[in-house]
Amino acid sequence: MSSEPFRVGLLGFGTVGSAFAELLEERAAEIERFNGRRPVIGGVLTRSRGGFEEILSEADLIVELIGGLEPARDYLLRSMRAGRHVVTANKQLLSQHGEELFETAREHDVRLRFEAAVAGAVPVVRVLEESLSATPIERIHGIVNGTTNFILTEMAHGASYADALKDAQRRGFAEADPSDDVSGRDAAAKMAILARLAFGTPVHLDDVRYEGIEHLHSDDLEYARELGLGLKLIGAAERRQGGLSVHVHPTFLYSGHPLAAVAGPFNAVTVESEAITEITISGPGAGGRQTASAVLGDVVSVMTGGARPPAPPLPLRLIEDVESAFYLHLDVADRPGVLAAVTQVLGEHDVSIKSVVQRGMGERARLVMVTHPVLESSLRTAIARVGEFDFVRAAPRTIRVIEEEFV
Ligand code: HSE
Repeated sequence: MSSEPFRVGLLGFGTVGSAFAELLEERAAEIERFNGRRPVIGGVLTRSRGGFEEILSEADLIVELIGGLEPARDYLLRSMRAGRHVVTANKQLLSQHGEELFETAREHDVRLRFEAAVAGAVPVVRVLEESLSATPIERIHGIVNGTTNFILTEMAHGASYADALKDAQRRGFAEADPSDDVSGRDAAAKMAILARLAFGTPVHLDDVRYEGIEHLHSDDLEYARELGLGLKLIGAAERRQGGLSVHVHPTFLYSGHPLAAVAGPFNAVTVESEAITEITISGPGAGGRQTASAVLGDVVSVMTGGARPPAPPLPLRLIEDVESAFYLHLDVADRPGVLAAVTQVLGEHDVSIKSVVQRGMGERARLVMVTHPVLESSLRTAIARVGEFDFVRAAPRTIRVIEEEFV
């Protein structure tokens, strides 16, 4: 006699929701073979069909793929209070109401799984929660937004920003509101979630400093290529001065860095710790079917009872003034003494220059340099002073650089 099916209530039927339903149907027989119960979709809630209470009453587990804060938060809380396990891909919700959700899961002794909320199909949540649960982590660096990585990859091959963004939307990588992708907010939400997992510390989206790719100039990508650099939107969560720093910025990397080769909608996360040196995992970070495979993995993990170890919390003390190397782009008058005046001011603020490209353009010149690591506050003060010189023709531009070079 076969056992009862495992009923999955599905909330949301967009790009990921519909791909999840399709994948579950395809894989159900095999899951039943190793697990004893066959997963089935026990009801679907969309704006125009289904009733939440009815779906909940019949479900063994709720999958939330609506996105956004409400009503997703209300549905997840009600599901857990009714004793149902839940699976979600909702990074906005986890990064803004994570504590309430985790607390509710604990109180009602149900599982809250969210592998698909960070880096799509890349199993970084499980690696941090389980494989590395006994490893003290120093730093996480990641490319955690597929849309922006796709756009930067296309721009490096000559596409315009607008065309690349349209293409990312057409392929189903972008959020419903793509400004969340290009502003860095989507990546910031994911870094808040990763920081919480890695450091056992509640980090809210508002605690993450982020910057997007909308203001980048394509000529920055060209100059940087001459200096051996490629541009990525990098999220970081790292221990600093006894606290934690979590931020997202466009950042240059030297070729050979594990994250430099990550192209298109792929994501990657590098975890650093003295015990493990470093581990990088990468794979598809966006796309319906790819993200749906992580959601289905969570469903199977709940069916088979995967572990969820607690982590001791680190006191939350967010550090904003971090050290970084910087790319610096100056548009200046081409006349004697300019380079000397700029380097003089930089030197006075402890900004040491690693490499320079200068290009004369008639009356004007482009002065593009990469600094050695420096405290961001010192660099900002130096740049403000440089910006006051009468020979500076446009606002100086800066972008972070991860300075490790690989040969
Ligand atoms: N819009 C997101 C991205 C989808 O581009 O990475 C995955 O969260």
